[in-house]
Amino acid sequence: MRVLISENEIQKRIQELGRELSEKLPADILLVGILKGSFLFFADLVRTISGNPEIQFIQASSYGSATVSSGNVDLQISNKISFSGKHILIIEDIIDTGLTLDKILADIQKTSPASISICSLLIKKGDHKEKYPSLFYGFEIEDLFVVGYGLDYNEKYRTLRDIFILEST
Ligand code: XMP
Ligand code: MG
Repeated sequence: MRVLISENEIQKRIQELGRELSEKLPADILLVGILKGSFLFFADLVRTISGNPEIQFIQASSYGSATVSSGNVDLQISNKISFSGKHILIIEDIIDTGLTLDKILADIQKTSPASISICSLLIKKGDHKEKYPSLFYGFEIEDLFVVGYGLDYNEKYRTLRDIFILEST
């Protein structure tokens, strides 16, 4: 496997993102992590955001053991979470086709939040920046399958500190 983005680059970019988010978003934000892929990004990012935000998690899965989107997104959102009237920041690991995010947005919209913004560590090249008006992101990458820093292939490689290109794809 080849390193695409090093631990240093990731951590440096997260500090910048934290400053940007703290400036642009309301202080009373609800931070929603999308499991499992965002768990390390979430933990590092939330400690750079000022204010006293609440945190919640949603579980999403679409890939199974393949490296292309299955198109079926399975979402688990606890009915104990209240999004109504709240300013929400969704924290994702990667936006590829956008299917996962679209399903999450549709489900959260139904609960009448005050606003929804998105922060994804990675976006794959596409029309995401035009499509999602309140999108923050760390790095835009080519159409490669990447692992490490939370991202997996068949549940492996999540604990690596850098982001790698999975060469077999
Ligand atoms: P979609 O296509 O719905 O994909 O935007 C988003 C979800 O799919 C996973 N994903 C990846 N996981 N390396 C991974 O480990 C990748 O290159 C990759 N591309 C997509 C990820 O869980 C994301 O939330
Ligand atoms: Mg994910």
